[in-house]
Amino acid sequence: MKILVTGGAGFIGSHTVIELQNAGHEPVILDNLYNASPKVIGRIEAITGKKVPFYEADIRDREALNRVFDAEKPDAVIHFAGLKAVGESVHKPWEYYDNNITGTLTLLDVMRKHNCRNIIFSSSATVYGDPAFVPITEECPKGTCTNPYGWTKWMLEQILTDMHTADPEWNVILLRYFNPIGAHPSGTMGENPNGIPNNLMPYITQVAVGKLEKLHVFGNDYDTPDGTGVRDYIHVVDLAKGHVCALKKLAPGSGVSIYNLGTGHGYSVLDIVHNFEEATGKKIPYVIDPRRAGDIATCYCSAEKAQKELGWTAQYGIREMCEDSWRWQSMNPNGYDD
Ligand code: NAD
Ligand code: WQD
Repeated sequence: MKILVTGGAGFIGSHTVIELQNAGHEPVILDNLYNASPKVIGRIEAITGKKVPFYEADIRDREALNRVFDAEKPDAVIHFAGLKAVGESVHKPWEYYDNNITGTLTLLDVMRKHNCRNIIFSSSATVYGDPAFVPITEECPKGTCTNPYGWTKWMLEQILTDMHTADPEWNVILLRYFNPIGAHPSGTMGENPNGIPNNLMPYITQVAVGKLEKLHVFGNDYDTPDGTGVRDYIHVVDLAKGHVCALKKLAPGSGVSIYNLGTGHGYSVLDIVHNFEEATGKKIPYVIDPRRAGDIATCYCSAEKAQKELGWTAQYGIREMCEDSWRWQSMNPNGYDD
């Protein structure tokens, strides 16, 4: 299939493009490079040995989208493009709603005008808010988000569902990612955060490489086995493969489907520190700080639905996630900026 991958130069998108090419699909990347480097395209091609068409364009630019759809005539869209920094979204709500919501509305309109009604959307475990129960199944009610970023995912899930209700020709898959970490095992592609990382694993790898002094653990008084927050970390390559499996489900009449993409295992912050130290031999100094506003104690999924219906299960364990994150960071201390 010809797949338009919005945000395909970003962390998860770029790994997904590789898996799409490996599976014989024809991905086409559209990205405005707001949070990505153009060098990614060459790295993807070096890994797969295949060319990938790349359009530098914004999903809010209707004319640019029209040109890409006219030229490429995609069968489906995998929609990663969006802003994703939780803290920043609190200070820049308009920018987040404009980019994520206006952008997606523009994309959906161009899609239907080009008769393409197949979409896989990057949603997030954040839509569960403080989850009603764990392990979180897809039936767990959506919760209250604590930031505009989370609300954009919450609302876009609703918008996509309403599009299908009004026009059943739309086939929609909402993939709720848990905590993606790791990197391509080649060490040539990975996460490239701007400034000081907000997320745990990039912070740890920057401590390990000497760019940051020590890890700040946000709270050790949660109701968890060691008091630190528990999350469902998933290797980005597994996550990428989940999209390839989901594509098979995007058949006419398939409607709206929701899948959690996680491993089903919860690890605490200190579990991650210890696993990282063991996998890499690098010591991670840390201090305990107060809780971070908006954080929850525990979040991990039941991955059974994706296994049953998509035939997908995560293959990589926590050791490989740590090893691959470290290989990427140590081979590219400045990410793609070298
Ligand atoms: P990323 O920032 O690396 O990738 C997003 C890409 O979208 C970037 O390359 C960026 O340049 C591009 N982009 C942003 N706005 C755009 C626009 N208006 N037009 C065109 N391109 C635009 O982030 P990621 O971690 O790869 O996340 C991909 C998707 O998955 C996002 O929608 C994110 O919200 C979602 N998600 C991420 C996580 C996570 O922890 N990384 C978890 C759950 C969901
Ligand atoms: C993980 C754990 C922190 C950094 C976020 C978004 C979520 C989704 C994934 C997009 C928590 C602790 C972290 C640090 C720490 N993204 N931590 N010190 O918060 O689970 O999820 O990314 O959809 O929407 O909210 O991920 O990596 O930030 O934190 O102690 O320097 O590590 O408190 O327990 P989170 P995270």
